[in-house]
Amino acid sequence: MCRLRTSRACNARGISRSMAIAVGVGVGEWVWWPGLALGAVPLLCLAVWHSTDAWYRAAFFLRHGGRRRLPPGHMGLPFLGETLSFVWHFKLARRPDDFIAAKRRAHGSGAGIYRTHLFGSPAVIACSPAANKFVFQSADNFGIRWPVPELIGHKSMVNVEGASHARLRGIILTAINRPSSLRTIAAVVQPRVVAALAAWADMGTIFASTEIKKVTFANIFRMFISMEPSPLTEQIDQWFGSLMAGLRAFPLDFPGTTFHRARKCRQKLNAVFRHELEARKKVDKKCDDLMSGLMCTEDEQGKRLSDEEVVDNMVNLVVAGYESTASAIMWATYHLAKSPAALAKLREENMAVSESKGGSLMITHDDLPRMKYTAKVVEETIRMANVAPMVHRVANRDVEYGGYTIPAGWPVLVWVRSLHTDPVYYQDPLTFNPDRWDKPAKPGTYQAFGGGYRICAGNMLAKLQITIMLHHLSTGYEWELLNPDAKINYLPHPRPMDGASMTFRKLRA
Ligand code: HEM
Repeated sequence: MCRLRTSRACNARGISRSMAIAVGVGVGEWVWWPGLALGAVPLLCLAVWHSTDAWYRAAFFLRHGGRRRLPPGHMGLPFLGETLSFVWHFKLARRPDDFIAAKRRAHGSGAGIYRTHLFGSPAVIACSPAANKFVFQSADNFGIRWPVPELIGHKSMVNVEGASHARLRGIILTAINRPSSLRTIAAVVQPRVVAALAAWADMGTIFASTEIKKVTFANIFRMFISMEPSPLTEQIDQWFGSLMAGLRAFPLDFPGTTFHRARKCRQKLNAVFRHELEARKKVDKKCDDLMSGLMCTEDEQGKRLSDEEVVDNMVNLVVAGYESTASAIMWATYHLAKSPAALAKLREENMAVSESKGGSLMITHDDLPRMKYTAKVVEETIRMANVAPMVHRVANRDVEYGGYTIPAGWPVLVWVRSLHTDPVYYQDPLTFNPDRWDKPAKPGTYQAFGGGYRICAGNMLAKLQITIMLHHLSTGYEWELLNPDAKINYLPHPRPMDGASMTFRKLRA
Protein backbone atom coordinates (compact mmCIF):
# COMPACT_ATOMS: atom_id res chain seq x y z
CA MET A 1 0.00 0.00 0.00
CA CYS A 2 2.77 2.27 1.06
CA ARG A 3 4.71 1.24 -2.02
CA LEU A 4 1.62 1.83 -4.02
CA ARG A 5 1.15 5.24 -2.46
CA THR A 6 4.81 6.05 -3.02
CA SER A 7 4.68 5.02 -6.62
CA ARG A 8 1.50 7.10 -7.11
CA ALA A 9 3.23 10.07 -5.54
CA CYS A 10 6.24 9.43 -7.71
CA ASN A 11 3.98 9.21 -10.74
CA ALA A 12 2.31 12.41 -9.75
CA ARG A 13 5.71 14.06 -9.32
CA GLY A 14 6.83 12.56 -12.68
CA ILE A 15 3.76 13.93 -14.44
CA SER A 16 4.16 17.35 -12.91
CA ARG A 17 7.82 17.31 -13.94
CA SER A 18 6.98 16.42 -17.54
CA MET A 19 4.21 19.05 -17.47
CA ALA A 20 6.71 21.50 -16.10
CA ILE A 21 9.10 20.62 -18.93
CA ALA A 22 6.27 20.98 -21.46
CA VAL A 23 5.18 24.27 -19.94
CA GLY A 24 8.80 25.33 -19.86
CA VAL A 25 9.10 24.75 -23.61
CA GLY A 26 5.87 26.70 -24.16
CA VAL A 27 7.13 29.59 -22.09
CA GLY A 28 10.40 29.46 -23.99
CA GLU A 29 8.54 29.81 -27.27
CA TRP A 30 6.46 32.63 -25.94
CA VAL A 31 9.52 34.40 -24.70
CA TRP A 32 11.22 33.96 -28.07
CA TRP A 33 8.43 35.67 -30.01
CA PRO A 34 8.30 38.89 -27.99
CA GLY A 35 12.09 38.87 -28.10
CA LEU A 36 11.89 38.70 -31.88
CA ALA A 37 9.22 41.35 -31.95
CA LEU A 38 11.18 43.65 -29.65
CA GLY A 39 14.53 43.06 -31.28
CA ALA A 40 14.51 41.92 -34.89
CA VAL A 41 11.36 43.59 -36.18
CA PRO A 42 12.44 47.09 -35.09
CA LEU A 43 15.85 46.36 -36.54
CA LEU A 44 14.24 45.38 -39.83
CA CYS A 45 12.05 48.49 -39.78
CA LEU A 46 15.10 50.62 -39.12
CA ALA A 47 16.93 48.96 -42.00
CA VAL A 48 13.98 49.60 -44.33
CA TRP A 49 13.60 53.18 -43.08
CA HIS A 50 17.25 54.01 -43.74
CA SER A 51 17.70 51.96 -46.93
CA THR A 52 16.68 54.71 -49.41
CA ASP A 53 18.74 57.30 -47.59
CA ALA A 54 21.73 54.95 -47.47
CA TRP A 55 21.29 54.17 -51.18
CA TYR A 56 21.41 57.83 -52.25
CA ARG A 57 24.26 58.62 -49.88
CA ALA A 58 26.26 55.69 -51.18
CA ALA A 59 25.63 56.71 -54.81
CA PHE A 60 26.68 60.28 -53.94
CA PHE A 61 29.79 59.03 -52.14
CA LEU A 62 30.79 56.87 -55.12
CA ARG A 63 30.55 59.94 -57.38
CA HIS A 64 32.24 62.49 -55.17
CA GLY A 65 34.20 60.56 -52.52
CA GLY A 66 34.28 62.28 -49.14
CA ARG A 67 34.95 65.71 -50.66
CA ARG A 68 31.32 66.79 -50.87
CA ARG A 69 28.22 66.43 -48.72
CA LEU A 70 24.56 66.05 -49.49
CA PRO A 71 22.34 68.58 -47.69
CA PRO A 72 21.15 67.33 -44.28
CA GLY A 73 17.84 65.50 -44.16
CA HIS A 74 16.38 62.07 -44.79
CA MET A 75 14.94 60.37 -47.85
CA GLY A 76 12.17 58.53 -45.98
CA LEU A 77 10.62 55.21 -46.99
CA PRO A 78 11.54 53.19 -50.09
CA PHE A 79 9.52 54.37 -53.14
CA LEU A 80 7.27 56.65 -51.05
CA GLY A 81 10.03 58.79 -49.59
CA GLU A 82 8.56 61.49 -47.36
CA THR A 83 5.34 61.79 -49.37
CA LEU A 84 3.30 60.12 -46.62
CA SER A 85 4.68 62.56 -44.07
CA PHE A 86 3.83 65.46 -46.42
CA VAL A 87 0.28 64.16 -46.88
CA TRP A 88 -0.02 63.58 -43.13
CA HIS A 89 0.96 67.18 -42.29
CA PHE A 90 -0.98 68.87 -45.10
CA LYS A 91 -4.09 66.68 -45.34
CA LEU A 92 -4.68 64.74 -42.15
CA ALA A 93 -3.08 66.70 -39.29
CA ARG A 94 -3.83 70.05 -41.03
CA ARG A 95 -0.58 71.47 -39.67
CA PRO A 96 1.37 72.05 -42.91
CA ASP A 97 4.11 74.12 -41.28
CA ASP A 98 5.11 71.26 -39.00
CA PHE A 99 6.52 69.46 -42.05
CA ILE A 100 9.40 71.95 -42.27
CA ALA A 101 9.47 72.56 -38.49
CA ALA A 102 10.16 68.83 -37.98
CA LYS A 103 13.12 69.05 -40.37
CA ARG A 104 14.54 72.05 -38.54
CA ARG A 105 14.23 70.19 -35.23
CA ALA A 106 15.82 67.01 -36.56
CA HIS A 107 18.60 68.48 -38.72
CA GLY A 108 19.05 72.09 -37.52
CA SER A 109 18.36 75.28 -39.47
CA GLY A 110 21.91 75.39 -40.90
CA ALA A 111 22.03 76.42 -44.53
CA GLY A 112 18.24 76.31 -44.93
CA ILE A 113 18.31 73.37 -47.37
CA TYR A 114 17.34 69.72 -46.78
CA ARG A 115 17.49 66.55 -48.82
CA THR A 116 14.24 64.63 -49.15
CA HIS A 117 12.36 62.26 -51.45
CA LEU A 118 8.99 63.69 -52.44
CA PHE A 119 6.42 63.03 -55.18
CA GLY A 120 8.44 60.10 -56.53
CA SER A 121 11.86 61.70 -56.81
CA PRO A 122 14.86 62.70 -54.69
CA ALA A 123 14.72 66.44 -54.09
CA VAL A 124 16.13 69.34 -52.13
CA ILE A 125 13.93 71.68 -50.13
CA ALA A 126 15.05 75.31 -49.80
CA CYS A 127 13.35 77.15 -46.95
CA SER A 128 15.35 80.15 -45.76
CA PRO A 129 15.35 83.67 -47.22
CA ALA A 130 18.97 83.34 -48.36
CA ALA A 131 18.67 79.82 -49.80
CA ASN A 132 15.46 80.69 -51.66
CA LYS A 133 17.00 83.85 -53.06
CA PHE A 134 20.03 81.86 -54.21
CA VAL A 135 17.80 79.42 -56.12
CA PHE A 136 15.54 82.11 -57.59
CA GLN A 137 18.42 84.20 -58.85
CA SER A 138 20.72 81.53 -60.29
CA ALA A 139 19.25 81.10 -63.75
CA ASP A 140 22.29 79.10 -64.90
CA ASN A 141 22.18 76.67 -61.99
CA PHE A 142 18.44 76.11 -61.70
CA GLY A 143 15.99 75.66 -64.54
CA ILE A 144 12.42 74.60 -65.13
CA ARG A 145 11.30 71.07 -65.92
CA TRP A 146 7.59 70.32 -66.11
CA PRO A 147 6.80 66.59 -66.00
CA VAL A 148 4.49 66.98 -69.03
CA PRO A 149 5.37 70.16 -70.96
CA GLU A 150 2.54 69.50 -73.40
CA LEU A 151 -0.13 70.17 -70.75
CA ILE A 152 1.30 73.56 -69.86
CA GLY A 153 2.07 74.36 -73.53
CA HIS A 154 5.47 73.93 -75.22
CA LYS A 155 5.66 77.61 -76.15
CA SER A 156 4.27 79.01 -72.92
CA MET A 157 6.53 81.31 -70.97
CA VAL A 158 6.79 78.95 -67.98
CA ASN A 159 8.17 76.24 -70.26
CA VAL A 160 10.92 78.16 -72.03
CA GLU A 161 14.28 79.40 -70.80
CA GLY A 162 16.97 81.95 -71.62
CA ALA A 163 16.43 84.45 -74.41
CA SER A 164 13.05 82.92 -75.44
CA HIS A 165 11.79 83.36 -71.89
CA ALA A 166 13.01 86.96 -71.64
CA ARG A 167 11.34 87.82 -74.96
CA LEU A 168 7.98 86.29 -74.04
CA ARG A 169 8.12 87.77 -70.56
CA GLY A 170 8.71 91.26 -71.97
CA ILE A 171 5.66 91.00 -74.24
CA ILE A 172 3.39 89.51 -71.55
CA LEU A 173 4.40 92.08 -68.92
CA THR A 174 3.56 94.85 -71.37
CA ALA A 175 0.15 93.29 -71.97
CA ILE A 176 -0.88 92.68 -68.35
CA ASN A 177 1.37 94.22 -65.74
CA ARG A 178 2.17 97.76 -66.89
CA PRO A 179 0.21 100.81 -65.61
CA SER A 180 -1.33 101.47 -69.04
CA SER A 181 -2.80 97.96 -69.29
CA LEU A 182 -3.83 97.95 -65.61
CA ARG A 183 -5.70 101.22 -66.19
CA THR A 184 -7.79 99.59 -68.94
CA ILE A 185 -8.28 96.43 -66.90
CA ALA A 186 -9.56 98.37 -63.85
CA ALA A 187 -12.26 99.95 -66.01
CA VAL A 188 -13.20 96.70 -67.73
CA VAL A 189 -13.61 94.43 -64.68
CA GLN A 190 -15.54 96.64 -62.25
CA PRO A 191 -19.05 96.53 -63.71
CA ARG A 192 -19.06 92.75 -63.34
CA VAL A 193 -17.79 92.95 -59.74
CA VAL A 194 -20.54 95.46 -58.87
CA ALA A 195 -23.21 93.23 -60.47
CA ALA A 196 -21.88 90.08 -58.78
CA LEU A 197 -21.92 91.60 -55.29
CA ALA A 198 -25.50 92.85 -55.75
CA ALA A 199 -26.51 89.33 -56.81
CA TRP A 200 -24.83 87.78 -53.73
CA ALA A 201 -26.77 90.17 -51.48
CA ASP A 202 -30.00 89.02 -53.16
CA MET A 203 -29.02 85.41 -52.49
CA GLY A 204 -28.40 86.20 -48.80
CA THR A 205 -26.18 83.18 -48.20
CA ILE A 206 -23.28 82.23 -50.44
CA PHE A 207 -20.37 79.83 -50.71
CA ALA A 208 -17.77 82.55 -51.12
CA SER A 209 -15.21 80.26 -52.77
CA THR A 210 -17.68 79.25 -55.51
CA GLU A 211 -19.08 82.73 -56.16
CA ILE A 212 -15.66 84.39 -56.17
CA LYS A 213 -14.37 81.81 -58.63
CA LYS A 214 -17.31 82.54 -60.94
CA VAL A 215 -16.79 86.30 -61.00
CA THR A 216 -13.00 85.96 -61.28
CA PHE A 217 -13.37 83.59 -64.23
CA ALA A 218 -15.88 85.87 -65.95
CA ASN A 219 -13.52 88.81 -65.51
CA ILE A 220 -10.49 86.88 -66.73
CA PHE A 221 -12.40 85.89 -69.84
CA ARG A 222 -13.44 89.49 -70.41
CA MET A 223 -9.88 90.78 -69.85
CA PHE A 224 -8.15 88.08 -71.85
CA ILE A 225 -10.43 87.32 -74.79
CA SER A 226 -13.46 89.68 -74.56
CA MET A 227 -15.89 86.79 -74.07
CA GLU A 228 -19.09 87.35 -72.12
CA PRO A 229 -20.49 84.56 -69.88
CA SER A 230 -22.31 81.91 -71.95
CA PRO A 231 -22.78 78.13 -71.97
CA LEU A 232 -19.45 77.98 -73.86
CA THR A 233 -17.55 79.88 -71.15
CA GLU A 234 -19.10 77.58 -68.52
CA GLN A 235 -17.78 74.63 -70.52
CA ILE A 236 -14.38 76.30 -70.85
CA ASP A 237 -14.31 76.83 -67.09
CA GLN A 238 -14.80 73.08 -66.60
CA TRP A 239 -12.06 72.27 -69.12
CA PHE A 240 -9.68 74.52 -67.20
CA GLY A 241 -10.68 72.76 -63.98
CA SER A 242 -9.78 69.39 -65.52
CA LEU A 243 -6.55 70.76 -66.98
CA MET A 244 -5.44 72.03 -63.57
CA ALA A 245 -6.34 68.71 -61.92
CA GLY A 246 -4.23 66.97 -64.58
CA LEU A 247 -1.22 69.16 -63.81
CA ARG A 248 -1.27 67.78 -60.27
CA ALA A 249 -2.07 64.17 -61.24
CA PHE A 250 0.21 61.20 -61.86
CA PRO A 251 0.83 61.11 -65.65
CA LEU A 252 -1.07 57.87 -66.40
CA ASP A 253 -2.50 58.33 -69.86
CA PHE A 254 -5.45 56.02 -70.54
CA PRO A 255 -9.21 56.66 -70.71
CA GLY A 256 -10.66 57.37 -67.27
CA THR A 257 -7.55 58.87 -65.67
CA THR A 258 -7.38 62.50 -64.51
CA PHE A 259 -4.31 62.98 -66.65
CA HIS A 260 -5.98 61.62 -69.81
CA ARG A 261 -8.98 63.92 -69.25
CA ALA A 262 -6.60 66.87 -68.79
CA ARG A 263 -4.90 66.16 -72.13
CA LYS A 264 -8.26 66.05 -73.91
CA CYS A 265 -9.32 69.31 -72.25
CA ARG A 266 -6.06 70.96 -73.21
CA GLN A 267 -6.77 70.07 -76.87
CA LYS A 268 -10.29 71.55 -76.62
CA LEU A 269 -8.93 74.74 -75.07
CA ASN A 270 -6.32 75.01 -77.82
CA ALA A 271 -9.13 74.72 -80.37
CA VAL A 272 -11.20 77.51 -78.72
CA PHE A 273 -8.30 79.96 -78.55
CA ARG A 274 -7.06 79.02 -82.03
CA HIS A 275 -10.56 79.57 -83.48
CA GLU A 276 -10.76 83.05 -81.91
CA LEU A 277 -7.28 83.92 -83.14
CA GLU A 278 -8.08 82.93 -86.72
CA ALA A 279 -11.35 84.88 -86.57
CA ARG A 280 -9.50 88.01 -85.41
CA LYS A 281 -6.86 87.68 -88.11
CA LYS A 282 -9.50 87.38 -90.85
CA VAL A 283 -11.25 90.65 -90.02
CA ASP A 284 -8.18 92.31 -88.54
CA LYS A 285 -10.19 92.81 -85.33
CA LYS A 286 -8.48 94.52 -82.36
CA CYS A 287 -9.93 94.46 -78.85
CA ASP A 288 -8.92 95.99 -75.54
CA ASP A 289 -7.91 92.56 -74.29
CA LEU A 290 -4.89 90.38 -73.66
CA MET A 291 -5.22 88.33 -76.83
CA SER A 292 -4.98 91.44 -79.01
CA GLY A 293 -2.10 92.63 -76.84
CA LEU A 294 -0.22 89.38 -77.42
CA MET A 295 -1.02 89.34 -81.14
CA CYS A 296 0.13 92.93 -81.75
CA THR A 297 3.03 93.58 -79.40
CA GLU A 298 6.46 93.36 -81.01
CA ASP A 299 9.70 92.32 -79.37
CA GLU A 300 12.91 94.38 -79.56
CA GLN A 301 13.63 93.03 -83.04
CA GLY A 302 10.14 94.03 -84.20
CA LYS A 303 8.97 90.39 -84.30
CA ARG A 304 5.47 89.37 -83.18
CA LEU A 305 4.51 86.14 -81.38
CA SER A 306 3.66 83.10 -83.50
CA ASP A 307 0.09 81.74 -83.35
CA GLU A 308 1.26 78.82 -81.20
CA GLU A 309 2.98 81.21 -78.79
CA VAL A 310 -0.20 83.28 -78.46
CA VAL A 311 -2.41 80.23 -77.81
CA ASP A 312 -0.01 78.52 -75.37
CA ASN A 313 0.44 81.71 -73.38
CA MET A 314 -3.27 82.53 -73.29
CA VAL A 315 -3.99 79.10 -71.79
CA ASN A 316 -1.05 79.36 -69.41
CA LEU A 317 -2.03 82.82 -68.19
CA VAL A 318 -5.52 81.60 -67.30
CA VAL A 319 -3.97 78.64 -65.44
CA ALA A 320 -1.56 80.95 -63.56
CA GLY A 321 -4.00 83.75 -62.82
CA TYR A 322 -7.43 82.23 -62.27
CA GLU A 323 -7.47 80.00 -59.18
CA SER A 324 -4.64 81.94 -57.52
CA THR A 325 -6.49 85.27 -57.65
CA ALA A 326 -9.88 83.74 -56.75
CA SER A 327 -8.34 81.98 -53.78
CA ALA A 328 -6.65 85.17 -52.51
CA ILE A 329 -9.94 87.12 -52.77
CA MET A 330 -11.77 84.37 -50.88
CA TRP A 331 -9.16 84.52 -48.09
CA ALA A 332 -9.54 88.32 -47.91
CA THR A 333 -13.29 87.97 -47.24
CA TYR A 334 -12.59 85.17 -44.75
CA HIS A 335 -9.99 87.06 -42.70
CA LEU A 336 -11.92 90.33 -42.75
CA ALA A 337 -15.02 88.54 -41.46
CA LYS A 338 -12.91 87.43 -38.50
CA SER A 339 -11.16 90.80 -38.01
CA PRO A 340 -13.83 93.50 -37.47
CA ALA A 341 -11.23 96.14 -36.55
CA ALA A 342 -9.35 95.64 -39.83
CA LEU A 343 -12.61 95.70 -41.79
CA ALA A 344 -13.66 98.96 -40.09
CA LYS A 345 -10.35 100.63 -41.10
CA LEU A 346 -10.68 99.29 -44.63
CA ARG A 347 -14.23 100.64 -44.87
CA GLU A 348 -13.20 104.04 -43.58
CA GLU A 349 -10.43 104.40 -46.17
CA ASN A 350 -12.53 103.19 -49.08
CA MET A 351 -15.56 105.30 -48.13
CA ALA A 352 -13.26 108.33 -48.05
CA VAL A 353 -11.92 107.52 -51.52
CA SER A 354 -15.46 107.08 -52.82
CA GLU A 355 -16.66 110.35 -51.26
CA SER A 356 -13.68 112.26 -52.64
CA LYS A 357 -14.85 111.15 -56.08
CA GLY A 358 -18.37 112.46 -55.51
CA GLY A 359 -19.68 109.05 -54.45
CA SER A 360 -18.49 107.38 -57.68
CA LEU A 361 -18.78 103.63 -57.54
CA MET A 362 -15.70 102.90 -59.64
CA ILE A 363 -12.08 103.36 -58.66
CA THR A 364 -9.32 103.85 -61.18
CA HIS A 365 -5.74 102.70 -61.24
CA ASP A 366 -4.74 106.26 -60.24
CA ASP A 367 -6.66 105.97 -56.93
CA LEU A 368 -4.40 103.15 -55.73
CA PRO A 369 -1.60 105.28 -54.22
CA ARG A 370 -4.16 106.80 -51.80
CA MET A 371 -5.45 103.38 -50.68
CA LYS A 372 -2.60 102.70 -48.27
CA TYR A 373 -4.47 100.60 -45.71
CA THR A 374 -6.15 98.61 -48.50
CA ALA A 375 -2.68 97.81 -49.86
CA LYS A 376 -1.71 96.44 -46.43
CA VAL A 377 -4.83 94.25 -46.35
CA VAL A 378 -3.86 92.92 -49.78
CA GLU A 379 -0.26 92.09 -48.71
CA GLU A 380 -1.42 90.47 -45.48
CA THR A 381 -4.02 88.40 -47.34
CA ILE A 382 -1.47 87.17 -49.86
CA ARG A 383 1.07 86.38 -47.11
CA MET A 384 -1.43 84.29 -45.20
CA ALA A 385 -3.19 82.70 -48.17
CA ASN A 386 -0.04 80.97 -49.45
CA VAL A 387 -1.85 79.96 -52.61
CA ALA A 388 1.48 78.83 -54.08
CA PRO A 389 3.17 77.16 -51.08
CA MET A 390 6.23 76.10 -53.06
CA VAL A 391 7.92 76.93 -56.36
CA HIS A 392 9.61 74.27 -58.49
CA ARG A 393 13.08 74.32 -60.03
CA VAL A 394 15.58 71.68 -61.09
CA ALA A 395 19.37 71.72 -60.61
CA ASN A 396 21.01 71.99 -64.06
CA ARG A 397 24.36 70.83 -62.66
CA ASP A 398 25.90 69.96 -59.27
CA VAL A 399 25.43 73.17 -57.31
CA GLU A 400 27.37 74.09 -54.16
CA TYR A 401 25.46 75.96 -51.48
CA GLY A 402 26.27 76.52 -47.79
CA GLY A 403 28.89 73.75 -47.76
CA TYR A 404 26.56 71.18 -49.40
CA THR A 405 26.05 69.91 -52.94
CA ILE A 406 22.66 69.88 -54.65
CA PRO A 407 23.08 67.04 -57.18
CA ALA A 408 22.48 67.69 -60.89
CA GLY A 409 19.00 66.72 -62.02
CA TRP A 410 17.40 66.85 -58.58
CA PRO A 411 14.24 68.94 -58.25
CA VAL A 412 14.52 71.89 -55.87
CA LEU A 413 11.36 72.83 -53.99
CA VAL A 414 11.52 76.44 -52.88
CA TRP A 415 9.23 76.28 -49.84
CA VAL A 416 8.09 79.92 -49.75
CA ARG A 417 5.23 79.15 -47.37
CA SER A 418 7.66 78.37 -44.55
CA LEU A 419 8.93 81.99 -44.55
CA HIS A 420 5.46 83.52 -44.31
CA THR A 421 4.48 81.46 -41.28
CA ASP A 422 7.78 81.64 -39.39
CA PRO A 423 7.57 83.60 -36.09
CA VAL A 424 11.22 84.59 -36.56
CA TYR A 425 10.18 86.78 -39.53
CA TYR A 426 6.54 87.60 -38.72
CA GLN A 427 5.42 88.13 -35.14
CA ASP A 428 2.39 85.97 -34.36
CA PRO A 429 2.39 84.79 -37.99
CA LEU A 430 -1.00 83.05 -38.02
CA THR A 431 -2.84 86.23 -36.96
CA PHE A 432 -4.28 88.45 -39.70
CA ASN A 433 -2.75 91.83 -38.97
CA PRO A 434 -2.54 94.30 -41.87
CA ASP A 435 -0.81 96.82 -39.59
CA ARG A 436 2.32 94.68 -39.58
CA TRP A 437 2.91 96.17 -43.06
CA ASP A 438 3.46 99.62 -41.50
CA LYS A 439 7.06 98.48 -41.78
CA PRO A 440 8.26 96.54 -44.82
CA ALA A 441 8.87 92.83 -44.32
CA LYS A 442 12.41 91.77 -43.39
CA PRO A 443 14.48 91.44 -46.61
CA GLY A 444 13.76 88.25 -48.51
CA THR A 445 11.00 86.99 -46.21
CA TYR A 446 8.02 87.78 -48.48
CA GLN A 447 8.15 85.52 -51.52
CA ALA A 448 4.48 84.85 -52.28
CA PHE A 449 5.13 85.73 -55.93
CA GLY A 450 8.41 83.82 -56.18
CA GLY A 451 11.48 85.84 -57.04
CA GLY A 452 14.31 86.60 -59.44
CA TYR A 453 13.93 86.50 -63.21
CA ARG A 454 10.73 84.43 -63.00
CA ILE A 455 8.88 86.45 -60.38
CA CYS A 456 5.12 86.25 -61.00
CA ALA A 457 4.28 88.08 -64.23
CA GLY A 458 0.77 88.88 -63.00
CA ASN A 459 1.54 90.18 -59.48
CA MET A 460 0.29 93.72 -60.15
CA LEU A 461 -2.79 92.40 -61.92
CA ALA A 462 -3.56 90.07 -59.01
CA LYS A 463 -3.20 92.89 -56.48
CA LEU A 464 -5.37 95.18 -58.61
CA GLN A 465 -8.16 92.60 -58.77
CA ILE A 466 -8.06 92.01 -55.01
CA THR A 467 -8.07 95.78 -54.38
CA ILE A 468 -11.08 96.34 -56.64
CA MET A 469 -12.99 93.58 -54.88
CA LEU A 470 -12.08 94.96 -51.44
CA HIS A 471 -13.23 98.43 -52.44
CA HIS A 472 -16.68 97.31 -53.54
CA LEU A 473 -17.09 94.86 -50.68
CA SER A 474 -16.13 97.32 -47.98
CA THR A 475 -18.11 100.30 -49.28
CA GLY A 476 -21.35 98.42 -49.90
CA TYR A 477 -21.64 95.15 -47.98
CA GLU A 478 -21.28 93.23 -44.74
CA TRP A 479 -20.84 89.51 -44.30
CA GLU A 480 -20.50 86.85 -41.60
CA LEU A 481 -18.97 83.39 -41.81
CA LEU A 482 -21.47 80.65 -41.05
CA ASN A 483 -18.74 78.33 -39.75
CA PRO A 484 -15.93 80.53 -38.45
CA ASP A 485 -14.17 77.46 -37.04
CA ALA A 486 -14.50 75.34 -40.17
CA LYS A 487 -11.45 73.13 -40.70
CA ILE A 488 -8.99 74.18 -43.39
CA ASN A 489 -7.99 71.93 -46.29
CA TYR A 490 -4.45 72.57 -47.50
CA LEU A 491 -4.41 70.37 -50.60
CA PRO A 492 -4.47 71.08 -53.45
CA HIS A 493 -4.88 74.71 -52.25
CA PRO A 494 -5.66 76.16 -48.83
CA ARG A 495 -9.45 76.52 -48.47
CA PRO A 496 -11.95 76.36 -45.60
CA MET A 497 -13.68 72.99 -45.76
CA ASP A 498 -17.14 74.56 -46.00
CA GLY A 499 -16.17 76.70 -49.02
CA ALA A 500 -16.31 79.84 -46.81
CA SER A 501 -20.09 79.83 -46.54
CA MET A 502 -21.37 83.18 -45.33
CA THR A 503 -24.37 85.43 -45.00
CA PHE A 504 -24.03 88.43 -47.28
CA ARG A 505 -26.13 91.60 -47.32
CA LYS A 506 -26.11 95.28 -48.25
CA LEU A 507 -24.44 97.48 -45.68
CA ARG A 508 -27.04 99.00 -43.37
CA ALA A 509 -26.89 102.80 -43.52
C1 HEM B 1 -2.48 86.02 -55.68
C2 HEM B 1 -2.27 85.64 -56.90
C3 HEM B 1 -0.99 85.05 -57.44
C4 HEM B 1 0.03 84.43 -56.77
C5 HEM B 1 0.17 84.19 -55.27
C6 HEM B 1 1.01 84.04 -57.77
C7 HEM B 1 2.20 83.39 -57.48
C8 HEM B 1 3.12 83.02 -58.44
C9 HEM B 1 4.34 82.31 -58.15
C10 HEM B 1 4.80 81.85 -56.78
C11 HEM B 1 4.99 82.14 -59.33
C12 HEM B 1 6.31 81.38 -59.56
C13 HEM B 1 7.44 82.35 -59.68
C14 HEM B 1 8.75 81.64 -59.94
O1 HEM B 1 8.77 80.60 -60.62
O2 HEM B 1 9.77 82.13 -59.42
C15 HEM B 1 4.20 82.74 -60.36
C16 HEM B 1 4.56 82.76 -61.69
C17 HEM B 1 3.75 83.28 -62.68
N1 HEM B 1 2.54 83.90 -62.51
FE1 HEM B 1 1.58 84.25 -60.75
N2 HEM B 1 0.56 84.42 -59.00
C18 HEM B 1 -0.66 85.05 -58.84
C19 HEM B 1 -1.44 85.60 -59.84
C20 HEM B 1 -1.10 85.64 -61.18
C21 HEM B 1 -1.89 86.28 -62.21
C22 HEM B 1 -3.19 87.05 -62.00
C23 HEM B 1 -1.24 86.06 -63.40
C24 HEM B 1 -1.60 86.48 -64.78
C25 HEM B 1 -2.77 86.50 -65.28
C26 HEM B 1 -0.04 85.30 -63.09
C27 HEM B 1 0.89 84.90 -64.04
C28 HEM B 1 2.07 84.26 -63.75
C29 HEM B 1 3.03 83.86 -64.77
C30 HEM B 1 2.90 84.05 -66.28
C31 HEM B 1 4.10 83.26 -64.10
C32 HEM B 1 5.37 82.68 -64.72
C33 HEM B 1 6.46 83.73 -64.73
C34 HEM B 1 7.73 83.26 -65.41
O3 HEM B 1 7.94 82.05 -65.53
O4 HEM B 1 8.51 84.13 -65.82
N3 HEM B 1 0.01 85.07 -61.74
N4 HEM B 1 3.06 83.27 -59.79
